[in-house]
Amino acid sequence: MAFDPHKTFYLETFGCQMNVHDSEKVIGTLISEGYRQVPTVDEASLILYNTCSIRDKAEQKVFHRLADYKKLQAQGKKFGVLGCVAQQEGERIFERAPHVSMVCGSASYRNLPEMLVQIEAGNRRVTGLDDRQTDACFETEFTARTNPHRGYITIIEGCDKFCAYCVVPFTRGKERSRSSESVLAEAVRMAAAGYTEIQLLGQNVNSYKDPQGKKTFAELLAAVAEVPGIKRVRFTTSHPRDFGRDIVYAIESVPTLCDHVHLPVQSGSTRVLDAMQRLYTREQYLERIQWMKEARREISITTDVIVGFPGETEGDFQETLSLLEEVEYDSVFGFKYSPRPNTPSLRLRDAVPDEEKARRLAVLLEKQREIQRCRNQRHLGQRAEVMVEGKNEARGQWIGRTSQNKVLNFKAPDGVAPGLGSYVPVVTTAIFPNSLFGEMVI
Ligand code: SAH
Ligand code: SF4
Ligand code: F3S
Repeated sequence: MAFDPHKTFYLETFGCQMNVHDSEKVIGTLISEGYRQVPTVDEASLILYNTCSIRDKAEQKVFHRLADYKKLQAQGKKFGVLGCVAQQEGERIFERAPHVSMVCGSASYRNLPEMLVQIEAGNRRVTGLDDRQTDACFETEFTARTNPHRGYITIIEGCDKFCAYCVVPFTRGKERSRSSESVLAEAVRMAAAGYTEIQLLGQNVNSYKDPQGKKTFAELLAAVAEVPGIKRVRFTTSHPRDFGRDIVYAIESVPTLCDHVHLPVQSGSTRVLDAMQRLYTREQYLERIQWMKEARREISITTDVIVGFPGETEGDFQETLSLLEEVEYDSVFGFKYSPRPNTPSLRLRDAVPDEEKARRLAVLLEKQREIQRCRNQRHLGQRAEVMVEGKNEARGQWIGRTSQNKVLNFKAPDGVAPGLGSYVPVVTTAIFPNSLFGEMVI
């Protein structure tokens, strides 16, 4: 398509890695349609906002931001809302923010080229909201990846689990997987383009079902990790219910498969897990942890926890704390339960007051800080390979990441400047709750 200097866009992205990667696909698609990405709202003719709806009155924040943008309409700029709030609020967005002319959920990005034509033709209400029940994934050859060394591949979209608190099944639609063939072909293309790290994505990445029936999830992991040129493969997020022992075997036997699993538990109380409709008990979850602890290769384990789900008692919360002690996670993301539109838990009684949620969250995070302080000790004096991700010029330190997904900042010997994206050995000499520090060895 011919390049048009007036077709410029600014895109801002919120939310999970899948949203970040969707934005890379959206950017690639817009560029292939003759648009140019610009770094500021001022320079843009089209302003896009890729939104997240997971917590904390997300839709209100989006409406506030859109209200801020309203004054720019006089300059002839056009506005589009993408992502989870777009899907959730749908045409209501046009009512509350009449300067918006496009509302598009993630299942409809395939239709963006047609939608752009409609916007250019002056259509004031262009929507992409009806594709949530589709079997198709948003595959595009135009993905504009932002990092030249490390890239995402979405292997499964949507979610069919319907946990009681969660908007994702409503915003991202039904679960659908890409064929292992197309995933592998993309991995091979990425390796040829110089990528060495691939992160496979899905809301529940391990619920993956090859539509052609050729590979299980664990087999796909191993196959991507064995693509020549690929040095690291990560995958996120795993759902405990679908977490099979074959994933642990794959990590044990394929060194390029990273030794890190993010396995959100949400609560340590089976009673709360049941109310959350999480489809597993505390014991079943701990069994999966045990598989990982018994692995021949040490696996770093991280999790998500929600505190203050309706009806969560002090006793339930204590069970979550005891689970933290039992598992000894490498890192925990804690959230206060937040009531979300459309979700079944809105109807539950016995809400936990906000101050109590805040107290539980603080206790949880403090407990985890202690655990990490002790647990990180094991890295002291150990050598690990890091991928160099950047440099902190002020401190003269390099920023690295280990296979276990830990940030390991380091000093290089005088006169040595490791290249971004290169892999170098580092010995850890100091530990902090959320990162490690070390010296590069040559
Ligand atoms: N599919 C993943 C999680 C996706 S959402 C899984 O099932 O594990 C990311 C995290 O956001 C969740 O693990 C959960 O801890 C948190 N979260 C989701 N909905 C929430 C809500 N309504 N309130 C608070 N936290 C929530
Ligand atoms: Fe949400 Fe549950 Fe699906 Fe995860 S599994 S995305 S928490 S509904
Ligand atoms: Fe947010 Fe949607 Fe991801 S709600 S967390 S952007 S799936």
